[in-house]
Amino acid sequence: MREQLAKIVEQALEQLKGVGDSAALEQLRVRIMGKKGELTAILRGMGQLSPQERPAMGQLVNEARRKLEEAIESCGQRLQQAEKEARLAREAIDVTLPGRERALGSLHPMNIVLEDLLEIFTGMGFEVVEGPEVEYDHYNFELLNLPKNHPARDAQDTFYIDDNIVLRTHTSPVQARIMTTRKPPIRIVCPGRVYRADEVDATHSPVFHQIEGLVIDEHISIGDLKGTLDTFAQRLYGEGVVTRFRPSFFPFTEPSAEVDLTCANCHGKGCKMCKGTGWIEVLGSGMVNPKVLDMCGIDSKRYTGFAFGMGIERLAILRYNVPDMRYLYENDLRFLRQFR
Ligand code: PHE
Repeated sequence: MREQLAKIVEQALEQLKGVGDSAALEQLRVRIMGKKGELTAILRGMGQLSPQERPAMGQLVNEARRKLEEAIESCGQRLQQAEKEARLAREAIDVTLPGRERALGSLHPMNIVLEDLLEIFTGMGFEVVEGPEVEYDHYNFELLNLPKNHPARDAQDTFYIDDNIVLRTHTSPVQARIMTTRKPPIRIVCPGRVYRADEVDATHSPVFHQIEGLVIDEHISIGDLKGTLDTFAQRLYGEGVVTRFRPSFFPFTEPSAEVDLTCANCHGKGCKMCKGTGWIEVLGSGMVNPKVLDMCGIDSKRYTGFAFGMGIERLAILRYNVPDMRYLYENDLRFLRQFR
């Protein structure tokens, strides 16, 4: 029994040297000291010893156990230390490595122009209002003096959802919505996406953007319209730019005018961009038709107003000299990177 005990201790100490991780250590501990372990078997076997032999043998077994426990404990500590060092080495960070460069995005030219427009108009006291793109015929046409079967509807190649719902063909329905729900004074701009059944080409797209302005109060005159648009033109294109009004027709304004701005490219001298005229056509505008005011529940005897609308793509194309409108929609990075 003594020999057996000495052998167990010797073997265990030898094996402990080779243990490489705490799982293996635990396995070894169980094999020796566990319930079915080798040392435990010896303890059990002591029942067969004579009472004289027992105390001496008991002492030996206890010593052996203490020795093994100590050895296992110190082996455990060695392993823990090694594992900690390995983890630290694994997680080490080289703070001197250069960082990874992130690709930086930039504003789309349409958004640059839109931000400028909103900055100009809010600076003049306009409130920004938005409305739905899927719109009732009622707001898109009828309240704007375009009853069903009105010939001017043909000019706006409309996408109909059903008899009473359309994809809005302009941002003017937002005006109609505001006029039916608010009392003057009203001073709003409405930017947004609009839809017309146009073929795609260099200057047309079935989806494009407009921004529309509306002012209603007592004593609003065409002079206010002209002053507002002159200020707008100069903030957008710089000092010296002026507006030119040409008579036109819109069912919702009376009188109506197309508005040209001095060509910002040649300052009015005439160039390729303005086709030699010195003027660029950018806006539709007019005094709000009293009939529209009345239909929307605003007393046309007391209040007058003006409205104007323009295409945002056109402004972006003019500002950046973009040769084809499709560049604005294709998200080609070679194009977009030019607007950093
Ligand atoms: N709604 C018109 C259009 O889409 C533009 C416009 C707005 C004209 C306001 C006059 C007044 O073409």
